[in-house]
Amino acid sequence: MKDLGAKPDELEPIERATRDEIEALQLKRMQWSIRHAYENVPMYKARFDEVGVHPDDLRALSDLSKFPFTVKDDLRKNYPFGLFAVPRDQIQRIHASSGTTGKATVVGYTARDCDLFADMVARSLRAAGVRPGEMVHNAYGYGLFTGGLGAHVGIERLGATVVPVSGGMTPRQVTLINDFKPDSIMVTPSYMLNILEEFQKQGLDPQESSLNVGIFGAEPWTNAMRKQVEDAFDMHAVDIYGLSEILGPGVANECVETKDGLHIWEDHFYPEIVDPETGEPVPDGQTGELVFTTLTKEGLPMIRYRTRDLTRLMPGTARSMRRMEKITGRADDMIILRGVNVFPTQIEEQLLATEGLAPYFQIELWKDGPMDQMRVHVEADPRAATTEAKATAGATMSKRIKDIIGISADVHVGDPGTAARSEGKAKRVIDNRRQQ
Ligand code: DLL
Repeated sequence: MKDLGAKPDELEPIERATRDEIEALQLKRMQWSIRHAYENVPMYKARFDEVGVHPDDLRALSDLSKFPFTVKDDLRKNYPFGLFAVPRDQIQRIHASSGTTGKATVVGYTARDCDLFADMVARSLRAAGVRPGEMVHNAYGYGLFTGGLGAHVGIERLGATVVPVSGGMTPRQVTLINDFKPDSIMVTPSYMLNILEEFQKQGLDPQESSLNVGIFGAEPWTNAMRKQVEDAFDMHAVDIYGLSEILGPGVANECVETKDGLHIWEDHFYPEIVDPETGEPVPDGQTGELVFTTLTKEGLPMIRYRTRDLTRLMPGTARSMRRMEKITGRADDMIILRGVNVFPTQIEEQLLATEGLAPYFQIELWKDGPMDQMRVHVEADPRAATTEAKATAGATMSKRIKDIIGISADVHVGDPGTAARSEGKAKRVIDNRRQQ
């Protein structure tokens, strides 16, 4: 793999700033942001007044904990534009979440916010080892989802060449990679596996591909998956994180030289970790729910937005801004199976550690009388697809799940090609427990 780490003179001054410098900037910006929200968004005014806090009460960063949280439902209740802090005609771009349950979550960006979006993705790409003049294959979905367009503007801002492929049409993805020879790829990790399979189907050696780095995010993925993809393509795999409510991709990114968690771009997004049950802030190093306050966003300021993502904060390394640990899961994705908490990423780890299985999976849950049941649908590696090999691999994975995670799950090993494939964010869990 190529050495892609940034030289110190390639960094922005804030990426090398001291903690004191970062915190001084954060406080100034936070005071602006809280006031901007209070003066321009009726919901924030009502909420702050209700608990008796005022923007003037924010004298230190720690005062933030006096202010109330914002949650996803607040966006739904104010659908579509009720939380915008500027007149509608100052909004340059709108994105929205798919909203499979209930109304979509709508977010808006002013021209300056769009600029910020481009800058943050460009900074993330530089951390990932991408340089001006290189070519980036962008397979995040274009449209209302922030992934495609967000990545697109960042690639342009960096001064790189963007190939705006979007998701889907997998054979064409491979043809374009093969013909155009991009230096890097931006895509969800689950779709990257699909692309890997297509390389193999077309008889191409992924190790021979032009790709030096993949920038993977929009869904949880494990270090075991990182190794799988890095080995298959002989390239670096780094993690990019973000969410529409705060920006989209580019809230935090791993540095290719360290790959030790994601540096949060703290000069624009202030992170806190809180106990998901009580909402009380916990110290750095302790795991809990990630909460963000935007420091510079004009169109949609977010004050203490609860992401539902679980992680912990760690000190800076390759950059002075703090890191968050790779996300193991969302509180919403946590499966409670007969009293044991399980995340799909834990299943992913056991799958990738079992020989004879391909890296695709989906979890099915149902009730058998009062008992929760779990079946993991996986498939045989084409090189080990005999009836006997499938039975052995299924039993091995089931035993690993029992021994390491502590739950009984049936592992169904199908023929190659039978497990669900993803073209964007993978749907890991089919929960039929409530319908029965
Ligand atoms: O997924 C933005 C994005 C696009 C990030 C492309 C990275 C790359 P939403 O659709 O609003 O935005 O979904 C946000 O996705 O709260 C996490 O639960 C999850 N997520 C995003 N990035 C990661 C990641 C985009 N690197 C939600 N690791 C977030 C784990 C992630 N989960």
